[in-house]
Amino acid sequence: MVKWAEVAAKPEPVAAQAKRCSIFGSVFVSGKDALVVFTPSGRRGRFPVGSSLLQAARSLGVDIDSVCGGRGICGRCQVLVSEGEFSKHGVVSSNDNLSPVSAVEQEYCSTQPMQQGRRLSCSAQVLGDLVIDVPSSSQVHKQVVRKAAEAHDVHLDPLIRLYFVEVQEPDMHDPSGDLRRLEDALEFEWQLTDLSCDVLVVQQLQTALRQGEWKVTVAVHAGNQIIAVWPKLKEHVYGLAVDVGSTTIAAHLCDLASGEVVASAGVMNPQIRFGEDLMSRVSYVMMNPGGEVEMTVAVRAALNDLAVEVAAQAGISAKDILEATFVGNPIMHHLLLGINPVELGGAPFALATDRAITLWASEIDFAIHRNARIYVLPCIAGHVGADTAGVILAERPDLTDKITLLVDVGTNAEIVLGNNQRLLACSSPTGPAFEGAQISCGQRAAPGAIERVRIDPVTLDARFKVIGSDLWSDDPGFAAAVANTGVTGVCGSGIIEALAELYLAGVIRHDGVINGELAARNPRIQPDGRTFSYELYRATEHAPALKVMQNDVRAIQLGKAALYAGVRLLMERMGIASVDRIRLAGAFGSHIDVKYAMVLGMIPDCILSEVSSAGNAAGSQTREMRRIAAALVILARQLRDGHRAFALTVDLHQMRPEHLQRFQQVGHIHGCAAIDQGLQIPASMAQTFSRTQCSGDHGRCCKQRNARVSLQTVEQQLRAE
Ligand code: FES
Repeated sequence: MVKWAEVAAKPEPVAAQAKRCSIFGSVFVSGKDALVVFTPSGRRGRFPVGSSLLQAARSLGVDIDSVCGGRGICGRCQVLVSEGEFSKHGVVSSNDNLSPVSAVEQEYCSTQPMQQGRRLSCSAQVLGDLVIDVPSSSQVHKQVVRKAAEAHDVHLDPLIRLYFVEVQEPDMHDPSGDLRRLEDALEFEWQLTDLSCDVLVVQQLQTALRQGEWKVTVAVHAGNQIIAVWPKLKEHVYGLAVDVGSTTIAAHLCDLASGEVVASAGVMNPQIRFGEDLMSRVSYVMMNPGGEVEMTVAVRAALNDLAVEVAAQAGISAKDILEATFVGNPIMHHLLLGINPVELGGAPFALATDRAITLWASEIDFAIHRNARIYVLPCIAGHVGADTAGVILAERPDLTDKITLLVDVGTNAEIVLGNNQRLLACSSPTGPAFEGAQISCGQRAAPGAIERVRIDPVTLDARFKVIGSDLWSDDPGFAAAVANTGVTGVCGSGIIEALAELYLAGVIRHDGVINGELAARNPRIQPDGRTFSYELYRATEHAPALKVMQNDVRAIQLGKAALYAGVRLLMERMGIASVDRIRLAGAFGSHIDVKYAMVLGMIPDCILSEVSSAGNAAGSQTREMRRIAAALVILARQLRDGHRAFALTVDLHQMRPEHLQRFQQVGHIHGCAAIDQGLQIPASMAQTFSRTQCSGDHGRCCKQRNARVSLQTVEQQLRAE
């Protein structure tokens, strides 16, 4: 007769074996061993009858979770017997080969729901040959499946883990302190050694131990630092992934045990009152010494509101958030950390640091758990921020041999190009036109803004959709549908569509001039000094007209030339004439119809099905990629190191004035056709699209066709409609 602990836990000290036996119950076994196969890992081994399934799994290195250390109270170790004859394994597996449901399991089931057939592996004992399935919910390093298309799964491996322990009570004959006995218990039960402990934990330790009757849960960071303690069993702690954008701040709250996003929210960045765009905020600091402190205070206050909001959504306390990760452009990054951003306002755009930063929540006045850790993703350079690094992490162009173009469109466009061989990045000053600013009728994407535009190529009349209504402006009921919001302006995606449609209808010429000769055909084309404008929305008694002016066309031309210049610069450096896939990110990128971006030449030629916008079109999801990136860094520690590595190896390119000039000279409203003339279009493509083939939603029709499409082909398709 052999005690289980003596068989399976040889390296443990004798005292440990004895104690573990008391945890798992005194299990005596006979000399006959049973074969146990664990799936999906396929690991197998022979174990004495009477062995605990959890210990058997651990001795084979099978990944099974546990917080309570096998006490039957956390429920993390659930497994399922696969019944039947498994010739592949040479096993006939049956529920009868496992010990009957124990009192511990019955007790657990009386308080917690448990799926039919599941068993607590810490309580169930091996009686015969078994095939045991470990569901992904019971695995520590489970796969986290991203919802986005082209998702990359990651192995869940958060830096913070919970451990439940029973600590020996103090004894007159043993003068050791409570912390020493806690560390002994962690080493004894979880083999955690060389631990250090924050003083904040020590301050709470005695109360927690006595409230918990010497049973506590501790949170350990990176396997070596105790950062929190709670009385009794604590099953869930959370991480907050935050994207600090210049307009909005958005966050995902993640359960560190399951990897699930349990709540999401966004708030406006209150720094807007100091300046709409980044450079205005830097100017504010230049003109108002100390202004950076005001902006730091403002953004931190918004972060606290956000933490409270997501915690309320998830029904938890903000104090249960033990880690937060941040991505942001360099200026947001600096202001969050209380660093003066003035150096980022001009060449050579020197960052205070290009390293990742880890600090305590209290150091940025973040009112989550007092001892929570903050991880700020590194900026790549003064003009390519942690947000771009986050987009790279979310998309992982470095994992494929396809050449990927990532464009994060905002006031500046951050552009990344490359594959698993090489990644290049640059930033290009597109200006605020794509976000609706510096456009005479422009406004931010908000209810009432025109976001979709169609121009009839025969009548030259316009119809449009506004944010907040699904109806087109010529649909019955449109006026009633927009009665509350009105038609207030044109947002970034609306101005792109308006210009592209006007070009396709011939109202805007190839050189970007609004063609006044067409004024006789439709009164919407009106003289405006020495140029002409196009009236998109006629004035009402409550609202002024919304017109596309010649200067608006010029502003968009400059912006798209800057964007295209950045893309072409990187393509030339890479020595390529085309890209395999394009992802548009950022608030604007999430709304843009990619075909219109192609018509205007904002992005290079690519198979349409390989061009997509990142994130959901819903306003609260527009920063999805960055938030995902921040979440991934919380949930998978290996990505943190990987991210650091590739953030440092991305090959940076600085846009110089001559690059911009070269492309602005080309300056056609229709893409950069002169530059693209080398791209040969198969003649057959001209017939690929026709009115009858298209459902009316250009994207759906085009995306179904896995064919290379040139700018001209898109143009033909849109004209055909
Ligand atoms: S390990 Fe906690 S219930 Fe089994």
